Amino acid sequence: MPVKENTVTNANAWEPKIVAFLCNWCSYAGADLAGVSRLKYPANIRIIRVPCSSRVNPQFILRALQRGADGVLVVGCHPGDCHYVTGNYFTRRRLTLFKSLLEFVGFEPERLKVRWVSAAEAGRFAETVKEMVEEIKLLGPNRRLQDSML
Ligand code: FES
Repeated sequence: MPVKENTVTNANAWEPKIVAFLCNWCSYAGADLAGVSRLKYPANIRIIRVPCSSRVNPQFILRALQRGADGVLVVGCHPGDCHYVTGNYFTRRRLTLFKSLLEFVGFEPERLKVRWVSAAEAGRFAETVKEMVEEIKLLGPNRRLQDSML
């Protein structure tokens, strides 16, 4: 259908893209439950299922940000509930350090979030996504680390 002259189109309205790494045992099940329960949350996330949150190498996060993500969300089981016993303790330490490093080089640390969501916490998952999308909207597009901006 041809676009009429003087018609305002919303095609260029920016929407944040968020890559979400979800551990298989808790968070992915929580996201699945949110879907099954028909909870509404923004469609801005692209979910990547990983065996455990500790599988998320900081290089994955950097690569996502370089390839066009405006934010990265890493979600795992609550501390003490990791299927691999101590995996999320490694995640917590590693990503806290990585976040400080991002901040040190002048990147907005709010673009990386680490959260714990159990398989029964569909509401918490939906709220986490909503909260992150709102925060990224306030920050605007990620221009610092994108490949196309280098
Ligand atoms: Fe979920 Fe390790 S299995 S964080």
